[in-house]
Amino acid sequence: MEVIIRPDTARAVRLAARLIADTVKMKPACKLGLATGHTMEAVYAELGRMHCEQKLDFSLVRTFNLDEYIGLAATDPNSYRYYMDQHLFKCINIDVRNTFLPDGMAADEIAEGQRYESLIRDAGGIDLQLLGIGSDGHIGFNEPISSLASRTRAKALTPATYLQNSKYFTPPEAMPKRAFTMGVGTIMDAKRIVMLITGSAKAGIAAKAIEGPVTAMVTGSALQLHPAAVVILDQAAAGMLTQTDYYNWVFANEPEWADYR
Ligand code: PGA
Repeated sequence: MEVIIRPDTARAVRLAARLIADTVKMKPACKLGLATGHTMEAVYAELGRMHCEQKLDFSLVRTFNLDEYIGLAATDPNSYRYYMDQHLFKCINIDVRNTFLPDGMAADEIAEGQRYESLIRDAGGIDLQLLGIGSDGHIGFNEPISSLASRTRAKALTPATYLQNSKYFTPPEAMPKRAFTMGVGTIMDAKRIVMLITGSAKAGIAAKAIEGPVTAMVTGSALQLHPAAVVILDQAAAGMLTQTDYYNWVFANEPEWADYR
């Protein structure tokens, strides 16, 4: 795992967007794993800007999102399909037929999990997976005690997630209590992982995921077992890390990061 701390949120966001953009430039038909949530809105705005100003070309890219609420149709403004259309897909030249999310209205939950796994596998796997982290440490909707080997499936959400996300629903009680999510095992199969964490509210859980034990209680900690995971934080989210001097030293000296400093 590599940990990169940027002085402010804008620079953390720009670095995450650049890593995605560079993957698209290097491999135009790449497969991107995408995330939703408040943190990612700025990343998608930056990718939209790069498409408009630098002609960043998404025409051959395929995307697979982490999760979708069970019971919400694609047309529901609170669905993650709707979020992706609004924040990214309508702002870039991606073929919408190349964009995939679990189907929140699928009648057979087991079959839907298997269908989604097959889609990813048949596409040749995910080149870069973008992740946020929930206040309870989740990646995707892999809530505490999710198996670290789990695959795409239906998952009950925790009260912490309900608290974090119900504010986006009107009324808040309209938020579904279950979701389809890629499993931790699905996420870990991605060739590269980029996690973005911003804001002081995430400082405690960021420290647990990065420097704490690998545990199903904090599924984000599974990234410690991934061969190519980068965690990008702003100063506020990095506030409770203990080894910041070391992380900064690596970023300042590793040749891999020369173009990104
Ligand atoms: P957030 O969500 O960006 O809205 O904080 C992140 C997550 O729950 O994974």
